[in-house]
Amino acid sequence: MVEVERVENLANSGIKSIPKEYIRPKEELESINDVFQEEKKEDGPQVPTIDLQNIESEDETIREQCIEELKKAAMDWGVMHLINHGVPVDLMERVKKAGEEFFGLPVEEKEKYANDQATGKIQGYGSKLANNASGQLEWEDYFFHLVYPEDKRDLSLWPKTPSDYVEATSEYAKYLRLLATKVFKALSVGLGLEPDRLEKEVGGLEELLLQMKINYYPKCPQPELALGVEAHTDVSALTFILHNMVPGLQLFYEGKWVIAKCVPDSIVMHIGDTLEILSNGKFKSILHRGLVNKEKVRISWAVFCEPPKDKIVLKPLPEMVSAETPAKFPPRTFAQHIEHKLFRRNEQEELVPETKD
Ligand SMILES: [Fe+2]
Repeated sequence: MVEVERVENLANSGIKSIPKEYIRPKEELESINDVFQEEKKEDGPQVPTIDLQNIESEDETIREQCIEELKKAAMDWGVMHLINHGVPVDLMERVKKAGEEFFGLPVEEKEKYANDQATGKIQGYGSKLANNASGQLEWEDYFFHLVYPEDKRDLSLWPKTPSDYVEATSEYAKYLRLLATKVFKALSVGLGLEPDRLEKEVGGLEELLLQMKINYYPKCPQPELALGVEAHTDVSALTFILHNMVPGLQLFYEGKWVIAKCVPDSIVMHIGDTLEILSNGKFKSILHRGLVNKEKVRISWAVFCEPPKDKIVLKPLPEMVSAETPAKFPPRTFAQHIEHKLFRRNEQEELVPETKD
């Protein structure tokens, strides 16, 4: 197995300046500012907050209004804070506590769970490997594993410490799966489709995969030079994110980087490339990145809801295509879509924020 540098070790080593592999290219540095200053800004566009209280209301008018707001946010931003989402707040707290306790273990303990990307063992504890000529790295370590459907999980790879990890995470995954169905339904109706359409198109209960990635961003001595996660769009259908109330997520909206403020008890939801493709671009998969800071460790828990890699060919739904709105995306499986993005990135080199198809 290749020896991988853990960012946590680097951060704890007392360095005052970061290794060059973590320094972003010059053009990108111009847009990296202090995250706490950014969070204080009151002016300019803000990530919308969507209240899901009435998403299944029996009252048609009330329900339709809720769906309309969700749809608008999906079209305009492709990312939002969900409130009244139906996931119990104490369960969210348990998931976060379990992840924090796991990452609180010494690095040597976490190494016992190390993944090995070279051999295709992608689940487990990891850090980014340099995959391009510049050797560019990101300021984070992570833990990645499949959480749903339950028969596809490999519990032997999950953290054994703390003892509540498996139960809290399993329970949380079940709630998120229900939430995903509600959102797919509402978005289908919003597009004028049958309520169960989008969920079917991404694999339904059996095939849609929920993958959890806990992102751990240590304090960074030179946060103005680094990124926790470089600019990208999510390839998923939907992504649901919890965090430890330390700001970091930035969205590229109308040509500017906008920080997502921390909304208590909310879940951040992204529309990913998969829904952008199915909706022929009506729903937006927004470019985003993660900033780091010097004062506080940031942790986020992202759950990616993804279609199966090869079983489904993703393309704009026929109802979304017309003479005026021709198909914007060629047919590709999920695996081919990922491959295509990597190829494009290598081709353009890593400097420009990735443009979409
Ligand atoms: Fe992302």
